[in-house]
Amino acid sequence: MTDRFYLTTPIYYPNAEPHVGHVYTTMAADTIARYHRLAGDDTFFLTGTDEHGIKMVKTAVEQGIEPTVLVDRVVAVFQEVWKELKISNDDFIRTTQPRHKIGVQKIVEKLLASGDIYLGSYEGWYDEGQEEFVTETAAKDQQYKSAISGRPLVRYKEGSYFFRLSKYAPAVLKYIREHDDFVLPATRRNEVISKLEQGVEDLSISRASLKWGIPMPNDPKHVVYVWIDALSNYITALGYGSNDQSLFDKYWPVNLHLIGKEILWFHAVYWPAMLMSLGLPLPRRIFAHGWWTADGRKMSKSMGNFIGLEKIRELAARYGIDSLRYYLLRAAPFGHDLDWTEADFNKSLNELANVVGNCLNRMLNMVSKYRGSLPALGAMEDLDRNVLSQIRGLGPKLAHAYANCELQQCALLPVELARAANGFIDATAPFKLAKDPQQASRLDTVLHVAAQAIYATLVGLLPLMPEKAEAGLRQLGCDPTGKTIQQLLDAGLAVGHPIAAGQPLFVKPEAPK
Ligand code: MSP
Repeated sequence: MTDRFYLTTPIYYPNAEPHVGHVYTTMAADTIARYHRLAGDDTFFLTGTDEHGIKMVKTAVEQGIEPTVLVDRVVAVFQEVWKELKISNDDFIRTTQPRHKIGVQKIVEKLLASGDIYLGSYEGWYDEGQEEFVTETAAKDQQYKSAISGRPLVRYKEGSYFFRLSKYAPAVLKYIREHDDFVLPATRRNEVISKLEQGVEDLSISRASLKWGIPMPNDPKHVVYVWIDALSNYITALGYGSNDQSLFDKYWPVNLHLIGKEILWFHAVYWPAMLMSLGLPLPRRIFAHGWWTADGRKMSKSMGNFIGLEKIRELAARYGIDSLRYYLLRAAPFGHDLDWTEADFNKSLNELANVVGNCLNRMLNMVSKYRGSLPALGAMEDLDRNVLSQIRGLGPKLAHAYANCELQQCALLPVELARAANGFIDATAPFKLAKDPQQASRLDTVLHVAAQAIYATLVGLLPLMPEKAEAGLRQLGCDPTGKTIQQLLDAGLAVGHPIAAGQPLFVKPEAPK
């Protein structure tokens, strides 16, 4: 029986082109989605854009255009970039689409019907970049500036509908406390718990002064607060509230919401409270990853250390999309903050070329030169058994790492196997064995073990580096299509399989000028 797996990225604000932060989350999600497809799971991977709110209106005004023109223009860039980067999302939701608007209105109607929305008035601070209400105490602590962008907070005073967040907060807190792996990583989960323990006020969920949004169904002079609108995408994309709820019935609750750490509060508190009010099951897991800086500083265009779209396109064109994916996911344990440096980027390119590429090349050259096809395993020594047992361990270790969102491990585990295979080739010295006819059977065994190791490495890299791994497997004469990772690992490389010399798989970094 296959499992079903539903995962999402945040829906991004199309007020500017995607940059490394968006690419990071999306590539991470894509890797997990590909793993689940390769594990035989019925997988649904959603991404999209969050197009309403004051931030979008302000950007449009700055550019002297209407918000619809702005969003259509930038959303097209997001869609094009995900295509270029071979992101395998199954759907792309835009919050300006009718399917979403209808769904949000249904959701708000339900919240109204359960008595969880009431009319009041809001006076307080607002972070327009984050689209977030800020309490008086927090505003004071932050010196009335945004904790994220540093821009001044804005004072709001207006009539507004409120959601009874305070009614659900104790249940949300209890749920988070009782479910260890609902919010991850643990450090961030603890931050959410302590903030919840301080008490939570009801949430203003409509704006009367804003036109750009989804009208409140009971009072169209107000538009729905952009975070209520945005969070709903995770179910409106599945047809919740429409005539066809088959995707919703199949895929909800979501297995994984992948997000950046700065939007954890919305996902771990507002969203579960909304779902409780709707009577729907909660997400299985919310994972908040860390933030990218560059050369130890916040990335910014003025500092010249911004890893934007242009740089991403340039690197992908020069080194391949997969090398970029490898760098991003290998850079730090998933969940930690990350720092982009050229030295680290080059180090990871060298690692791919010197460990994986080199292992594949040595093996192809030796087998093609000495045998022409994969020889059978003969008598074994401890060295051989060690490598074979590492190969056998790869599938279960990867399954464990993917199940726990340990994406750095997902990158390193297969590469470590190739490293072990290189060490094995050095220790067994097949080029010497080849000179001695007495050692023919030993050479068979050594070549067989080395070949199985690089084959398993490439299979293990399929979710993370789909193109390079497949290209490597094709050099080995294998077509991985239509098989699960475990089937490929169990099958191994067939004895007697013809093997020819190969081409280098990876491009090395350019020498500094
Ligand atoms: N629209 C909201 C999300 C709504 S989800 C229901 C939003 N959009 S955003 O365009 O600002 O994207 C935020 C996300 O982009 C982060 O959560 C993270 O996934 C990614 N990143 C943006 N900058 C980042 C870094 N510097 N580093 C890592 N990822 C960050 O918030």
